[in-house]
Amino acid sequence: MKQRLLELFKSAGGGYLSGGEISKALEVSRTAVWKHIQALKEDGFTFEAVPRRGYKLLSQPDTLSPDDLLPLLRTRVLGKSIHCFDEVDSTQNVAQRLIRDGAPEGTLVLAERQTAGRGRLGRHWHSPKGKGIYMSLVVKPEIPLHLTPHLTLLAAVALNRAIRKVVPEVEPGIKWPNDLLIGGKKISGILLESSAENEQLQYIVTGVGISCNLERSDYPEELADRATSLLIESGRRIDRARLIAQFLGQLEELYGLYYSQGFSPIQTLWEASAVTLGQTVRSSDANGSFEGTAVGLNEWGGLRLRLADGSERTIYSADAREQNYR
Ligand code: BTN
Repeated sequence: MKQRLLELFKSAGGGYLSGGEISKALEVSRTAVWKHIQALKEDGFTFEAVPRRGYKLLSQPDTLSPDDLLPLLRTRVLGKSIHCFDEVDSTQNVAQRLIRDGAPEGTLVLAERQTAGRGRLGRHWHSPKGKGIYMSLVVKPEIPLHLTPHLTLLAAVALNRAIRKVVPEVEPGIKWPNDLLIGGKKISGILLESSAENEQLQYIVTGVGISCNLERSDYPEELADRATSLLIESGRRIDRARLIAQFLGQLEELYGLYYSQGFSPIQTLWEASAVTLGQTVRSSDANGSFEGTAVGLNEWGGLRLRLADGSERTIYSADAREQNYR
């Protein structure tokens, strides 16, 4: 019944429908019409009710569904199979289960909320309902395992470009390897989880969390100083479906560039968007901690640091513990 009522409002083209018109079209009583409208309001739809004119549908809830996304997609492979959930533990887990059941490359998992969203270095990813993008994408790149850092950096470039297209008011920058920051605060994170056999990648699950429509009150105290959202930074609500479609488009384009021309153009794009270069980065290895100025990437995607004695050291995302920036 809800679906029929929504179709009726759609065919009214944004105009008013009287209670009488609706009850006639749907063959239900006026009381039933009122009850169904209340139920739609509870689902997040908003209406204007004007005496003697009836109801007008003002807005739909911002939910993600294949029906919202498919018309926006310009990709050939990425996002061609879409699974949307209201609540999951982690979209990464769901994607991995789907892979075991034979999910093809490009499979996309989206959730409105995660109860156990995870980030890099075993951290928790704050995932309040309907406010962010929580997505995992299955890719099956034909490259050796040791080149995975290239894709980590490539994903950050794609996300940076997508955000700048959809929210041109903000200017995010990439913190090595693939966090996006605005004004020093994190707005998104990327987590790549892969499986390989004999040095050959089988699949990568690219997990992306984007803080889209979180308000300040949506952040727990410990994140308040370190995280921000596109809504807070731009002052307007973000169309999540458009941002996802734009990201998939950018990602597919950059994969094409990577396969045809190698890492070099991705490195150039990454370095042009990085906030890390020129900063002092502290890191550590088995021999203790050290610090240096970030000067660029090497051909494997590692971050080159120039130390005080003029020597260079490279750190890799795969074995990075915590880098402190000053
Ligand atoms: C990080 O910055 O540490 C990476 C965060 C990645 C979070 C996303 S949200 C969707 C996907 N599912 C998860 O459990 N994690 C990733």
